[in-house]
Amino acid sequence: MKKVLIVGSGGREYSIGYFLKDEAEIFYAPGNGATDKFATNIDIKDFEELANFAKENQIDLTIVGPEDPLVNGIVDIFKSHNLTVFGPSAAAARLEGSKVYMKNFLKKYNIPTAKYIQTEDKKEAFEFIESMLKTPIVVKADGLCAGKGVIIALSKEEAKKAASDMLSGKSFGDAGKKVIVEEFLDGYELSMFAICDGKDFVLLPAAQDHKRLLDGDKGPNTGGMGAYAPTPLATAEIYEKVKERVIKPTLKGMQKEGNPFEGVLFIGLMIVDNEPYVLEYNVRFGDPECEELMPLIDSSLYDMFYYGATKELDKIDVKIKNLTAVGIVCASENYPYSSSTPAEITVDHLNDCNGYISYAGVKKIDGKLMATGGRVLVCVGFGENVRKARDEAYNIVDKVHFKGKKYRKDIAYQAIK
Ligand code: AMP
Ligand code: GLY
Repeated sequence: MKKVLIVGSGGREYSIGYFLKDEAEIFYAPGNGATDKFATNIDIKDFEELANFAKENQIDLTIVGPEDPLVNGIVDIFKSHNLTVFGPSAAAARLEGSKVYMKNFLKKYNIPTAKYIQTEDKKEAFEFIESMLKTPIVVKADGLCAGKGVIIALSKEEAKKAASDMLSGKSFGDAGKKVIVEEFLDGYELSMFAICDGKDFVLLPAAQDHKRLLDGDKGPNTGGMGAYAPTPLATAEIYEKVKERVIKPTLKGMQKEGNPFEGVLFIGLMIVDNEPYVLEYNVRFGDPECEELMPLIDSSLYDMFYYGATKELDKIDVKIKNLTAVGIVCASENYPYSSSTPAEITVDHLNDCNGYISYAGVKKIDGKLMATGGRVLVCVGFGENVRKARDEAYNIVDKVHFKGKKYRKDIAYQAIK
């Protein structure tokens, strides 16, 4: 049997391993309190040591889940050891690691995005804000801020304060010492994911995430409270426009820059009047979007990642099921504000459920599965349409118990009217 090493510990990584486990023996670094049910968790953080582990254990393929190790060069290190690894180099991962790099790249290659300036200078930021004709105004910190570095300012005054707090290092430290100020795009958001090998790509079904904590898209931003795929909001025309105007020029551009893009290109899009605009790139799967996408793959998942890593995507045909998946995040009591007291998780029989649970913030303590993280688990339901998949997902939510469990009750509302 093949051997796969998955780097990461969240629900995203759980779902990748869960759907790969029939094709390969799975190892996680570090994994979580539930991945050890079907895989081996190993506790090695150092990239060189991990590469040595992969060599010694004849790992056929390594898949890197989160952005941090990618931005910090794990793929470069694995490649220097001649290991097969799926993910972008540190240089290519700057598409996520630096918003300034990403926006300048989009501009250079004529890829549609919001009009912006980038600056390190408060005066320049203020002048641009003053010159803007419309509010809201969007102010973004350059570096990685765990999803919190974007301020949608409702007035020019608020925009100036956000820019000035970022530039002084007050809000995000060094990550905010360069900022982007850009126009607000008014439309609906989609997430698209392309598996890329540097030159070719496979575009997966479009998903929609729900970033706010509370129903009706209220409350603070989170890592994502639920997602579904495919979304009927993405029409054939939108897929085509995204391929032609966004993905192809991005892959060509990255080749020209000398940083061919391999791995998952996560395209955060705003659709305005049927036209796609890139809000952001990430260089990995979305979480919780990955949890809905993995079960939709109808051909070998191993091949998709392996041929992505060996630059041979043109050799395979990735098939997608005619199915919808809806995922509901169950988070702990104090998410996203502070940590919560560990709480035991119990799950009723899922025999009559069409779906699965992807575990994220969980640990085994004294042999019991405990909720220890912010986003604890994702209940994913399947169905022939969004409504049925959503009902299945909430059915599973009702069968999961832990103290303080909280979740949104309106996931996929934009597709169910
Ligand atoms: P980002 O991390 O750049 O994707 O921004 C986080 C969130 O802020 C996005 O998912 C959007 O909801 C919102 N956002 C970012 N940029 C814009 C923009 N130019 N116009 C409207 N909303 C935006
Ligand atoms: N769910 C959004 C993200 O992973 O960034």
